[in-house]
Amino acid sequence: MSDLLLHVTGARPNFPKAAPVLAALDDRGFAQRLVHTGQHYDDNMSAVFFRELHLPSPDVNLGVGSGSHAEQTAAIMVALEKEMLAAQPSLVIVYGDVNSTLAAALVTSKLGIPIAHVEAGLRSGDWTMPEEVNRVVTDRLSDRLYATSADAVAHLGSEGVPVDRIRLVGNPMIDTLLKHRDAFDGSRVRAALGLGETYAVATLHRPANVDSPESLGALTAAMSQVADQIDLVLPVHPRGAANLERSGLLAHPRIHPVEPVGYTEFLGLVDRSAFVVTDSGGIQEETTVLGVPCLTLRPNTERPVTITDGTNQLVTPADLPARASAALAAGRPVTWPVPPLWDGHAGERIAGDIATFLA
Ligand code: UD1
Ligand code: UDP
Repeated sequence: MSDLLLHVTGARPNFPKAAPVLAALDDRGFAQRLVHTGQHYDDNMSAVFFRELHLPSPDVNLGVGSGSHAEQTAAIMVALEKEMLAAQPSLVIVYGDVNSTLAAALVTSKLGIPIAHVEAGLRSGDWTMPEEVNRVVTDRLSDRLYATSADAVAHLGSEGVPVDRIRLVGNPMIDTLLKHRDAFDGSRVRAALGLGETYAVATLHRPANVDSPESLGALTAAMSQVADQIDLVLPVHPRGAANLERSGLLAHPRIHPVEPVGYTEFLGLVDRSAFVVTDSGGIQEETTVLGVPCLTLRPNTERPVTITDGTNQLVTPADLPARASAALAAGRPVTWPVPPLWDGHAGERIAGDIATFLA
């Protein structure tokens, strides 16, 4: 019987990571099954990525939706176990660090099926982040660990993962960025908002930033001071929508809240922006490749390579306004470093290793 590969995706950042891996494995003739857990379900958080990135439609959508961590993770586990028992895959491929990733790793491991983790080894060292738990547990259970950067390889080694399981493959999210770069176009949103040539982009969705009124208070003051200097386009993640509305931030005349936008529109906006303010993981990487200064509103990052070999810097709410002024005054960099192997071929490297592993 030929090998069946089963991919588990569920949340927005999974989709640009999975697209190049699915394509490269398809080129090698593998039978594949794509499971969508339904963790994200709004059209602009999910389906738009399938359309724009030419992802195959999911073979099954488990439709788990939102809930507490336990509710969501458990619902995914119960539904996935049935799916895997029926499909009998040779390998399950999981992406990133969301609850869908963790749930899939737990179920797969208990069924005795090998797991490949794409984006293994990232560590913030911050156990208050739900993603840190998801990363560490998923890596511990994985048989093939695909790292985007050398520091991730080092973390896995220091945690005792056998070196023959780890491969430094580059960054599949950047494969997607490079593949679709010619289609990036933020002009519709810019025209609708009446924006000129100079503007910045912001996204906020980390629980530590948007869930508590105290942190939102500090953020609102800081972001308002940034918006006093420059128009800020803010695609609002559904997690923070109600709290951001209540905070008063969205009433600033130069803050332009919009619904989450599709991939090519979003990166079109980012690509032409003066700088980005964010707490996203993936956007730290995308701005690094695009050469857009990135001010990351977090005390730590699991992606330090975007600071050492990129355009990222960590900022606190207190120093955000001054860092934004400095970024505006300095202008976009003419040259900047990009991490090794972020070259558009990570998906092919992953597919090559999977072929060797299964052989
Ligand atoms: C999840 C991931 C986070 C990732 C983020 C990317 C976990 C623990 N967190 O966070 O690592 O950075 O996705 O965007 O897996 N909602 C909608 N529509 C949707 C999806 C969510 O309205 O399509 C709302 C619901 O009110 C939901 C809330 O957003 O309760 C949070 O969604 P959830 O998937 O639990 O976590 P995220 O904050 O999106
Ligand atoms: N993104 C998008 N539209 C938006 C905001 C983000 O297409 O309005 C893309 C972004 O370019 C990146 C991915 O969504 O590819 C990152 O998702 P998110 O920030 O939600 O998750 P994280 O990376 O923090 O887990």
